Amino acid sequence: VTGHHILGPCCVLCPVINTNCCFSWWGGVQMGPPDPILGVTEAFKRDTNPKKMNLGVGAYRDDKGKPFVLSCVRKAEALIAAKQLDKEYLPIGGLGDFTKACAQLALGANNEVLSSGRNITVQTISGTGSLRIGANFLSRFHGGSRDVYLPKPSWGNHTPIFRDAGMQLKAYRYYDPSTCGFDFRGALEDISKIPEQSVILLHACAHNPTGVDPKQEQWKEISDIVKKRNLLVFFDMAYQGFASGDIDRDAWAVRYFIEQGHNILLSQSFAKNMGLYGERVGGFTVVCKDIEESKRVESQLKILIRPIYSNPPMNGARIATTILNTPELRLLWLEEVHGMANRIIKMREQLVAGLKKSGSSHNWQHVIDQIGMFCFTGLKPEQVERLTKEFSVYMTKDGRISMAGISSGNVGYLAEGIHAVTK
Ligand SMILES: Cc1ncc(COP(=O)(O)O)c(C=O)c1O
Ligand SMILES: *[C@@H]1O[C@H](CO)[C@@H](O)[C@H](O)[C@H]1NC(C)=O
Repeated sequence: VTGHHILGPCCVLCPVINTNCCFSWWGGVQMGPPDPILGVTEAFKRDTNPKKMNLGVGAYRDDKGKPFVLSCVRKAEALIAAKQLDKEYLPIGGLGDFTKACAQLALGANNEVLSSGRNITVQTISGTGSLRIGANFLSRFHGGSRDVYLPKPSWGNHTPIFRDAGMQLKAYRYYDPSTCGFDFRGALEDISKIPEQSVILLHACAHNPTGVDPKQEQWKEISDIVKKRNLLVFFDMAYQGFASGDIDRDAWAVRYFIEQGHNILLSQSFAKNMGLYGERVGGFTVVCKDIEESKRVESQLKILIRPIYSNPPMNGARIATTILNTPELRLLWLEEVHGMANRIIKMREQLVAGLKKSGSSHNWQHVIDQIGMFCFTGLKPEQVERLTKEFSVYMTKDGRISMAGISSGNVGYLAEGIHAVTK
């Protein structure tokens, strides 16, 4: 589309068709819809009720409702500042010490994949950037189908990330609204019908938006079926440590699939587990057949990245690397991740206790059974609307709440509100 001529009153006065008054390059650009989650925050900001709560956005808050910077991060920043390091460009694939530590964190330091060198990890612009590099890589090199199968529902950004990279989106059943839990049977049934060599996206832990994860026994069956169908597995691990509080436990599915011989793609983010949201720290890993294949893949990832952003930013990667590679800071980090996960688990329990205390007779067990940052409450859109209007509690229409936005000071108020709209 080129420019559009706009015939306005000025054109009548113009002696010649004059670009200044009759022509616009962007006349054909239509207004797009606002982002559903950021839109919730906008509405929240306008509300003057002192009891208002923003449960839309997925960022951790402490028990006072304040953004939380981990002390391991503060300490790492001080160590880095004291070194007076230079600000030269990083390599295209990022900071070497970072990518190494990043892969070790996900796969486990002694993973055979790493010792045999059939791994390639590049530093990315957090999890989103990692998924996009992965999507671009698939688009350029995946010989099989263009179809990427997402769980239904999935993180809202998965669809445009893969679509904009030229892939096609399909879905498999995942969430069962009747139990607010995992639709295991439905998922297996759908996965068993996916055409061979398609791509399947799996959330490694703390599924967003539902908070519903398969159990280990269920993961094993999923792995079997995925292998039978010869599907290419793309794991999105945005919450390692944030689900259970234990980084190894949260990486269990990823490691199990690798053990079972799946040569996976893996996206990692340090936004949540290190609280490095705005620093944009992440990694993209390809597990290859052998070391020779990993060299070829590495060369092509660099060719892919170079014209997009040339090389990744260094500050966040330095912070994450310092934490992962300094024994005292790593220990402190593990404690702090555990603390964040535990606070969320406690809020789940307190919310359910509050609902019972308010007199709710519904079964809210799913609030406790779900895991990670988010809870799919099961609230219907009309109930969400009432909760927002009458109680100034903001969330997305699908009934998802960010557990991290709840504190011991307002959990009782939230319980009363939810009870009032679900009576
Ligand atoms: C499932 C999932 N994947 C990836 C991301 C990526 O986030 P970021 O780009 O901030 O690392 C998120 C963040 O909300 C997420 O929930
Ligand atoms: C593979 O992992 C090893 C061990 O962590 C690391 O030293 C190496 O740099 C990784 N290879 C690539 C290409 O990322």
